[in-house]
Amino acid sequence: MKSKRIYLAMGLCAFVGVVGCGSGSDDLAVDTIEAQEQDLSGYGVEVKCVAKNQFGYVATVNGTLRLTKHDFPQGFLVKGKLKVQTAQYGQPFKNAKFKVTGDLDVTGHYAFVEPPPGKPIKHINLVFGPADSSVNTSNISYQTDCSQSLVKLPKGSDLVLEHTMRHYPNGNGQIGVQIDVVNIGNKPAHAPSGQVNVAGITVNGALYQYYGGTADPGANTVNPGERGYIKVLLPSGTLARCNQYDVKIDLGHTMQSGQPNPFGNDAGKARTPCLKWNTPITSFEITSEPDPLIKNHSLAEIVSSKWVARSDGKLCNACHFVGSGKPYSPPAGDIAYNQTVGAGTWETKWAAEFIGQGIKPQYLKDAFQQWLNDGSL
Ligand code: HEC
Repeated sequence: MKSKRIYLAMGLCAFVGVVGCGSGSDDLAVDTIEAQEQDLSGYGVEVKCVAKNQFGYVATVNGTLRLTKHDFPQGFLVKGKLKVQTAQYGQPFKNAKFKVTGDLDVTGHYAFVEPPPGKPIKHINLVFGPADSSVNTSNISYQTDCSQSLVKLPKGSDLVLEHTMRHYPNGNGQIGVQIDVVNIGNKPAHAPSGQVNVAGITVNGALYQYYGGTADPGANTVNPGERGYIKVLLPSGTLARCNQYDVKIDLGHTMQSGQPNPFGNDAGKARTPCLKWNTPITSFEITSEPDPLIKNHSLAEIVSSKWVARSDGKLCNACHFVGSGKPYSPPAGDIAYNQTVGAGTWETKWAAEFIGQGIKPQYLKDAFQQWLNDGSL
């Protein structure tokens, strides 16, 4: 058995590395992870929390929490039976015993559990270290100290798809492809080489962290909770914008390791960039860093005069409105891409007219051109 029993009297963050101590990023894919085969017996938490002081609202908590599976984006789902004793200001302890379910964070430092509805205790925040924990009813928060608990965590790296991938010309009849992944495990994923399948083609790739990652640059490593990509080369024409493809990572089981089994959640769909009328304009969708004036805002918002996209601080409707005398004189309110405004719609006329105007900012012309190329939807 690889994992050691850890006695948690000290700050656990220092032990497992600072990166794991923040909360995991949550700008992640919407899809749930596929069911994994788990063998998590032998791991879990022996909860032993004592009353923090004798002067206030105090509680003790005892019991065992089993890990059931990896949670998303990071951490573990837990289940167990807890015995809770609570007391107020010199009163005798009151006993309660119930089943709880909840989450344990990826570092094993924090757990949040809840009994079924209708119990006197609403939820329990456990901190397995020297900090305070709390046992909460609807109106009282009891203090407790869980530094005597024993936490035994599985250790491993686990890359999962973020369901997006970008592609760009790479010369020699090839495209470079970046398959976005996140490491939901609690150990760094180190993968200078590994097999992936994209759109039915199996190739070799390497793992890289995204900008802002905390691993050594060039180490082909993505630290726990951080985002990265697997870069591969494919024949030109394999991928198109505005499409999605089947992807499977780590076919050879060389890019991830440890427990819980990291190989059961490696397949899924990944979509390519696509700029639609309502899509926030990001570097992913337009494959370059957007001008700050339009970044994270959609063409719909800009054209409907809900967001200023010009350096002069003016909304579109400062100059274009019913009675403005301009060919493009839209009514107030939301403008749909297929809505007829005067002689045409944005789809059939105005995007092209906009692009043809010398006075319009280039970044906006480029965005409208990308939208037309992507099918004007
Ligand atoms: C400061 C005034 C001003 C603002 C603000 C402005 N435009 Fe214009 N726009 C013009 C002028 C001037 C033209 C050139 C044609 C003209 O004189 O009517 C033009 C031309 C256009 C055209 C070509 C059709 C036409 O009416 O000539 C479109 C489409 C257009 N603008 C859309 C927009 C959109 C979308 C925005 C907001 C992102 C915007 N404009 C913001 C002044 C403005």
